[in-house]
Amino acid sequence: MNTRMRRAAVAVAAGAMAVSLAACGSAKESGDKSDSSSSAKKGDAIKVGLLLPENQTARYEKFDKPLITKKIKELTNDKGEVVYANAKQDASTQNQQVDTMITNKVDVLIVDAVDAAAIKNSVQKAKDAGIPVVAYDRLAQGPIDAYTSFDNETVGKTQGEALLKALGSKAKSGKIVMMNGSVTDPNAALFKKGAHSVLDGKVNVGKEYDTKEWKPENANSNMEGAISALGKKKIIGVYSANDGMAGGIITALKAAGISVPVTGQDAELAGVQRIVAGEQYMSVYKPYAPEADAAAEMAVALAQGKALDTIAKDKVDSPTNKAVPSVLVPVTSLTKENIKDTVIKDGVYTVTDICTTAYKADCDKIGLK
Ligand code: BGC
Repeated sequence: MNTRMRRAAVAVAAGAMAVSLAACGSAKESGDKSDSSSSAKKGDAIKVGLLLPENQTARYEKFDKPLITKKIKELTNDKGEVVYANAKQDASTQNQQVDTMITNKVDVLIVDAVDAAAIKNSVQKAKDAGIPVVAYDRLAQGPIDAYTSFDNETVGKTQGEALLKALGSKAKSGKIVMMNGSVTDPNAALFKKGAHSVLDGKVNVGKEYDTKEWKPENANSNMEGAISALGKKKIIGVYSANDGMAGGIITALKAAGISVPVTGQDAELAGVQRIVAGEQYMSVYKPYAPEADAAAEMAVALAQGKALDTIAKDKVDSPTNKAVPSVLVPVTSLTKENIKDTVIKDGVYTVTDICTTAYKADCDKIGLK
């Protein structure tokens, strides 16, 4: 676990977390503000600016955006409005999007930063304009008021442990390739750190890359480079930081006739289908609903001048700010064996979503019906 994180509820299961978040729908008034003054200031008709970093990874527009929007509506009797912008991996676009939202007088911002350092001045500008900021999933620098994410070092450890398990006694019989995420994303550094903490000394890393902008196409060309540098027969496994990149990596592996365990993250539908088909070994299932709900709860509370203490039980330090009120949601390793108990149980996908014609036979084989 990230040593900077002081966590209050380490062992809370994802389901229990969802329930407890749902249960604290109305945050308490902070001591120094009376009911009437804060609700007179900001009632339910609040405007929430939502800034997401990219749209190539499926989660953002398929899960994060609709889930956050739904929760904001729910918490504001349908009167809250969400203004959305996607930066498509461009940090300066995202800074402009913040400027526009400040001009449009949003009441609060939820920001998933393209570049956690480059967003710092924008966070400060929002703060100066009296607009609170919730950092979403990636720990933005600057004076943020709250943060929600997963324990990202644990995500990396989970990936590393799964890869070791898949390799078994063959772990040192060849080389693995490590495909990390973008250097502008602090989560990528934590995934990488967590993965190295379990893999180092137990495997030989033949090649390692930080993937520009998390792009699957960049992971694909890096994988092609690794295959020609190391040779087809030497590669025994690939650490991929997420499912999007795993897609690009597996395309390159298939083209070279290589079939080895590959990790992932996000439980994207395409990733889950590759797991069913035996092309990808695992993904990390991060339940997006509790993360999105926490962001919505904290944003609404901040916009309405309410305290966060009933919602945010954790504290996290960023490179610029100490003890940021936070909600960290637990994660689960997703393999063939537990598809039913995770994404299906939580209603993320139905069996029909996963077991399309192309995957029907593979689904039958693992009893996914
Ligand atoms: C998120 C991952 C995502 C990646 C690429 C990370 O910050 O935590 O879920 O796959 O960014 O967008």
